[in-house]
Amino acid sequence: MDNDARHLRRALSRRDFVARACHSPLAWALAARAALSGRPQAALGVQAPAEKGRLIVRSVRPLDLETPVALFDAWLTPNDLFYVRSHLYAPEVRLAEWKLEVRGAVERPLELRLDDLKRMPQASVVVTLECAGNGRAFFDPPVAGIQWQRGAVGTARWTGVRLADVLKRAGPKPEARHVWLDGADAPIGTMPDYVRNVPLQKALDPDTLLAYEMNGEPLAPLHGFPLRAVVPGWEGAYAVKWLTRIEVADREHEGFFVQTAYRYPTRRIAPGAAVDPKDMAPLTGLTVKSILTAPAEGAVVPGSGTRVAGFAWAGESEVERVDVSTDGGATWQAARLGADRARYAWRRFELDWRPPEPGSYFILSRATDARGRVQPITPQWNPSGYLWNAVDRVRVDVRA
Ligand code: MTE
Repeated sequence: MDNDARHLRRALSRRDFVARACHSPLAWALAARAALSGRPQAALGVQAPAEKGRLIVRSVRPLDLETPVALFDAWLTPNDLFYVRSHLYAPEVRLAEWKLEVRGAVERPLELRLDDLKRMPQASVVVTLECAGNGRAFFDPPVAGIQWQRGAVGTARWTGVRLADVLKRAGPKPEARHVWLDGADAPIGTMPDYVRNVPLQKALDPDTLLAYEMNGEPLAPLHGFPLRAVVPGWEGAYAVKWLTRIEVADREHEGFFVQTAYRYPTRRIAPGAAVDPKDMAPLTGLTVKSILTAPAEGAVVPGSGTRVAGFAWAGESEVERVDVSTDGGATWQAARLGADRARYAWRRFELDWRPPEPGSYFILSRATDARGRVQPITPQWNPSGYLWNAVDRVRVDVRA
């Protein structure tokens, strides 16, 4: 490592720390600008554009940004408020050089440019994308990794082509069982490449897409320009960004991000206990969950009352109801569910609340899905801190 590299590493780790400690847009701006000024930026990947400045910085390099939940208001999350999660630096992809390769256990290997994909039948699906590690910060005992709280989630209308249409064009051979998805992001140092594995059955689902648009706009560089996977109802890590290679295979991919990361215990374990790798299986579908977005934690609420609101989702299942408690869980009332709905998208919920008297209150939300799954008080602890879905809670002060 030369002097320059050493200086950069020291500067960045200091600023990462400041940004993480402050969790504020200002800290983000200072950290990102100061850390990168005068340095070869290409080596650090795509920087955060100014419009992402309202997000909470969880890591400066690679860039991980969380949406403050008070900013979730609309059913579709605006692109500039959408969380960002990248294990490696976001690559700067030049469209003129970009192509998608489809190879492996197929009759006709393909090389497709974006225009080729755009000439194929178009498909759109509204999907709630949630990082498996959303809520990791709340596990006890604590778990290493990005300390996401409640906002590594968002909902967008994704438009592109069906992965099934591309695979049918290539013609999977009889032995095909799995589809490996690889993006243009390159590993940093000794880190493994980011490759994810989708079983063929889910890959052929007509709702599984290769998306080139997000909410009617071309994908932004941080969200996978020019093409990403969208695997509806499954945890966000399947939504591989900057896609360049699809490999059809007779077996699961053997890389780190399939065999070690994104796995969950198959049996109940004690919090903090070690788990034998043979008792872990790949995570797939998201669980049932709700978050309260209004009022905000610590808000002062007028005695005349306020509207309690939030969003609830259930992966491949459907939200059946959301119950809200305004007395710390002693009693519950069914919230109204919003009219906007789609099979894999979150649902807004609302309840008008008139507090009985001034004082401090805990408001809780608890979703139930069509499979009868209910948000627990305490989710199952697991070594990577995935799928946090406890009943959500905010404390507010009611003033006369
Ligand atoms: N794709 C690539 N190529 N590299 C990555 O690091 N991160 C994954 C997924 N796709 C990732 C990726 C994870 S963990 C999540 S949660 C989603 O992208 C986040 O998508 P977003 O940044 O568009 O919100």
